[in-house]
Amino acid sequence: MLDLPNLILIGPMGAGKSTIGRLLAAELSRDFLDSDHEIQARCGADIPWIFDVEGEAGFRERESQMIDELTHLEGVVIATGGGAVLREENRRALRDRGTVIYLFTTVEQQLRRTAKDRNRPLLQRGDREQVLREMFALRDPLYRATADIIVRTDRRGPRAVVNEIVRRVTR
Ligand code: S3P
Repeated sequence: MLDLPNLILIGPMGAGKSTIGRLLAAELSRDFLDSDHEIQARCGADIPWIFDVEGEAGFRERESQMIDELTHLEGVVIATGGGAVLREENRRALRDRGTVIYLFTTVEQQLRRTAKDRNRPLLQRGDREQVLREMFALRDPLYRATADIIVRTDRRGPRAVVNEIVRRVTR
């Protein structure tokens, strides 16, 4: 196997970043790190608590710090949170320090996958569909501008998505 750079998964909530990241890392015998998971472990609190106490701004600070730290590792698979591309400094770190893979999904699929979710504070406010559509309009161009590779995850299972990523990054 060729030496691989970091593989960094970006994309919206419900795109499958954590599931696909774990499978991809296992497939390539790499370590897997999930930015949200690391933020929670570092803080000793879950994401809803961080949003409650520190606000979204506090969470975004922690997220930028974590992205900076994780992207300095070598040869790992990293799953980011859906808002990781909002800040230019994050987009630059992601682009410069790995191969960035945009896991594309539709709002319809996101609605199905996040139906019972209580862990994503941004989906607890107002109409979920409207929130997701507004996020898509703002973020899809940012994901595209940051990504080296775009892979759809809405029409097939995680295993098929992983196979496509492996094919495209090792060729
Ligand atoms: C967020 C997505 C979440 C998490 C936080 C904010 C966002 O991660 O980082 O709730 O702004 O889209 P997932 O994409 O893993 O759900």
